[in-house]
Amino acid sequence: MSAEPMLVSRQLARDPWWRDAVVYQVYLRSFADGNGDGIGDLAGLRTRLPYLASLGVDAVWVTPHYVSGGADGGYDVIDYTAVDPSYGTVEDVRALVTDAHALGLRVLLDIVPNHTSDQHEWFQQALADPSSPFADLYHFMPPSESPPNNWQSMFGGPAWSRTPDGRWYLHLFTPQQPDLNWDEPAVADAFDEVLRFWFDLGVDGFRVDVAYGLFKDPAYRDNPGIYSPTLFGHGPEQAMTTNQPRVHQIWRRWRSVADSYPGDRMLVGEVSLADLDEVGLYARPDELHHAFQFRLLKSDWDAAAFADTITEALAAFDRVGAPAPWVLGNHDKARQVTRYGSERRARAAAMLMLALPGSAYLYAGEELGLPEAFVPDEARRDPIFFRSNGKRAGRDGCRIPMPWESLTRNAGFTSGTPWLPIPANWPAYAVDRQAVDPSSTLALYQQAILLRDLYPALGSGQASVTLTDGVIRVDLTSRFGDPDPITCYINMGSDPVAVPATQVLLASSPDVPAAADGSVTLAPDTTIWVRL
Ligand code: GLC
Ligand code: CA
Repeated sequence: MSAEPMLVSRQLARDPWWRDAVVYQVYLRSFADGNGDGIGDLAGLRTRLPYLASLGVDAVWVTPHYVSGGADGGYDVIDYTAVDPSYGTVEDVRALVTDAHALGLRVLLDIVPNHTSDQHEWFQQALADPSSPFADLYHFMPPSESPPNNWQSMFGGPAWSRTPDGRWYLHLFTPQQPDLNWDEPAVADAFDEVLRFWFDLGVDGFRVDVAYGLFKDPAYRDNPGIYSPTLFGHGPEQAMTTNQPRVHQIWRRWRSVADSYPGDRMLVGEVSLADLDEVGLYARPDELHHAFQFRLLKSDWDAAAFADTITEALAAFDRVGAPAPWVLGNHDKARQVTRYGSERRARAAAMLMLALPGSAYLYAGEELGLPEAFVPDEARRDPIFFRSNGKRAGRDGCRIPMPWESLTRNAGFTSGTPWLPIPANWPAYAVDRQAVDPSSTLALYQQAILLRDLYPALGSGQASVTLTDGVIRVDLTSRFGDPDPITCYINMGSDPVAVPATQVLLASSPDVPAAADGSVTLAPDTTIWVRL
């Protein structure tokens, strides 16, 4: 079969581009340092865009680049229309967008509407004067002995802290991240302007932080339960602090701002809710383009858990006519290699994800098979570690700088001192080594993304999922009923299994015996894409 007709139908299938995009999450502080101060920045990222283009991804999502208090890795924003000097300038963002577009890459920024930094001008005004109109933009409560209710910070401890004059204010994350009061119209108006500022500059969209948050119970009633980070996401136990129905009106509003610009701008929300049908509501046709569901990310290496999640997520997003976004790793979660127990499993999981219809989100470094890094306590930066008194390790281990060059100091990330220590074994994972090794994890990601671009059945269209003896089988067809269906198998069991296949298109590990008599033998912890 010639590749050309498939390419044509694939291009049709890619309209609009975000339906089945592969999006690469850049952790800005750790990606590439352009000026030798040990901190990744926009100039560094620009020099590495050709790498992302050669990986084959469609878009780059950049973690917060705004002026920040630095209390939570940039998710505590002081000024939403200015760039933190450690990352560069607004002109650097413009140049990033220009360079990215020239390479066929889109740029998504990260926007943080649930809370600001405590150093934000609004909060400073509110602190200085309780009767200031700025105080209405946050959740303040009058002085009292104990916190106004039982709400807990997701990073540990009560969600209420006191101002110097004794008032309480709400922060679902650190005390340096006061929650905004979205019932005040001025808040929504201000964020419209922020969106327009960056859209006007040419960015293609936003990843929306804590999109299931924003609004809180107007009567500040107690939550029925305590959030546990081990859950699939927030549920009824957090009913008073998450998933308030009023939030949907904001996503409709943001959608209309995005749609008022040419060129298919997009919004992807962080929707950390356990109930997939609830997540789907955020991706209704007039709301966010994508709503992250984290159930796969939070599933252990378990065939039934994976199969159920895939089936249920596909159904939930189908019900609202939205593409399903898939994610296996991000800057908040331990690296897949470590979570699943081997690089072999992480490779198998990645190929499964890249076969599924919808969009796939990759986290910088997963294409290199990076493990979770050991971080000595004295080097830790994540507030989760400190607020839990060391009981939760926090997220520094997945935020270690990228290894680019195996023989250069600091694996080529910086000529200075990296902001988090780079482990001694990092050079072994460096891009320059993997780029010339056809069996590397980088080569696997490249090939998988290329095949996804070539075959309309991969990453777009219909999937039907079956589970037998630890093997998940996903039958894939394009949205155009093309005659070239593809089947993806992943063996999550402990024994080799013979599966029907006449031709193997790609295997996550090399030891798949060639097709014979219409079947192949699939070793444990392996994924293959085949023709039957
Ligand atoms: C989101 C971000 C996380 C951040 C939190 C507070 O969950 O992904 O990194 O700490 O929001 O903004
Ligand atoms: Ca720098």
